[in-house]
Amino acid sequence: MPFPIHRPRRLRGRALLRRMVRETRLHPCEFIEPLFAVPSKRARKPISSMPGQFQLGIEDLVEECGRSLELGIGAVILFGIPPKKDPLGSGGYARDGVVPRAIRALKRSLKDLYVIADVCLCEYTSHGHCGVIEGERLLNDPSLKLLAKCAVAYADAGVDMVAPSAMMDGQVGAIRSALDRAGHQELPILGYSAKYASAFYGPFRQAAESAPAFGDRRGYQMDPSNRREALHEVDLDIGEGADLVMVKPALSYLDVIAEVKRRSPVPVAAYNVSGEYSMVKAAAERGWIDEPRVTLEILTSIRRAGADLILTYHAKDAARWIAEGREP
Ligand code: PBG
Repeated sequence: MPFPIHRPRRLRGRALLRRMVRETRLHPCEFIEPLFAVPSKRARKPISSMPGQFQLGIEDLVEECGRSLELGIGAVILFGIPPKKDPLGSGGYARDGVVPRAIRALKRSLKDLYVIADVCLCEYTSHGHCGVIEGERLLNDPSLKLLAKCAVAYADAGVDMVAPSAMMDGQVGAIRSALDRAGHQELPILGYSAKYASAFYGPFRQAAESAPAFGDRRGYQMDPSNRREALHEVDLDIGEGADLVMVKPALSYLDVIAEVKRRSPVPVAAYNVSGEYSMVKAAAERGWIDEPRVTLEILTSIRRAGADLILTYHAKDAARWIAEGREP
């Protein structure tokens, strides 16, 4: 006899009670803010495909991160854009490359900032692929050595966590043993475990100048049609020593996030990627949606699906809206 005994609306009548019985809450400390660093001292170049995002010179990056810290954002994740690209992506593991320089500057000025470095080669290779190529084939095992070199370079510069995103088989294990050999046994690894070959990365590739010069990434990133395979990737990464795992993108993969969360003994991150961000911005610019509400609703849904952490370009805006008491 559900009705009239049960009336779920009793709990919805007043904002105070709705807040009390809310199942999912957003907190800025669960946000990881992606930022793009360029090797100049001063630069703040708008990324046209991602309104509100910039390629930042080192000092501008430090200022930007200072604001993130004040807003209570949990961490930043750095992507570097090198001055020159080459076939082996040497700018990714150069000791004085843009990311190590950015890490050192951030660590010098902002002691409390938690700094993560993305580990991939696509921003640094002239062909735009995430590893070493031979003809048009991407070679898995030779790429591992270079990815491990990147991770060690960032660790030596003082980074707090590394996040390999190249989708090479064995990348977490290769990076773990290289870090251990270099004395960084305590440095955690966030695996981009279930990273799909997604069209939602389009705006990022403009931001990071990393679109592949030929072909696509379907030979190494996952097929969007697959869910069980994501669990396999997560198991493999945890087996290789991943301390946290990730599903990417987020919004079209909420089912994958939920399933990974159910099975994973380690924290689960989800990457609310560039295309997801830019769609919201574009619609908001046209006045078609209420940007704060839509943004908070999206972030809430990613958390509700099971993500413990969210990588999102909305981090600062969302942190401000949360502080203002806005709700999805
Ligand atoms: C690098 C990398 C990409 C993203 C994060 N790390 C691009 C890609 O795989 O092409 C995408 C992030 C985004 O779209 O916001 N491999």
